[in-house]
Amino acid sequence: MTTLPIESQKTSQIRFTLNGEETDVCFAPYKTLLEVLREDLGHTGTKHGCELGECGACAVLLDGKPVLSCLVLAVDCSGRQVLTVEGLGEDGNLHPLQDAFADLGAAQCGYCTPAILVTAKALLDQNPHPSRDQIREAISGNLCRCTGYLQIFEAVEAAVLKIAAQKSTVT
Ligand code: FES
Ligand code: FES
Repeated sequence: MTTLPIESQKTSQIRFTLNGEETDVCFAPYKTLLEVLREDLGHTGTKHGCELGECGACAVLLDGKPVLSCLVLAVDCSGRQVLTVEGLGEDGNLHPLQDAFADLGAAQCGYCTPAILVTAKALLDQNPHPSRDQIREAISGNLCRCTGYLQIFEAVEAAVLKIAAQKSTVT
């Protein structure tokens, strides 16, 4: 059997917006968005877990909505907007969710954290004042082995207050 050199296996190419920047990438056509982000673009913030759609560790935002990047073919992302944890902060500052997770111990081993952060961002973009139950429901697809979830819920609630305080100082 002949094995093609890696470069000749990269037969698909897309242009999409990754964390606000127009990005071109070539990759093998069978690859998932998770694989292209990590292996072809070096964005390893998005974590590789079960690859079966069960753990939630690979979540990113696709056109503002959480998706499991292990279940999305990269070729289907042409022309679309992808946000990963690397794009959460702005102007060199952490996103209030990242600050709150650090302050309240909501990231322990950290493996689930990038996906939970982007999933929580999508929730707060849509619903700036979610109830505890709405937070719980939004991240119900993200497994965390370390925290018992309480610190995560509290950190999302703390981020709500931080974001509201930031907005009141701007207006
Ligand atoms: S890696 Fe587990 S859901 Fe994608
Ligand atoms: S902090 Fe370890 S899995 Fe969530």
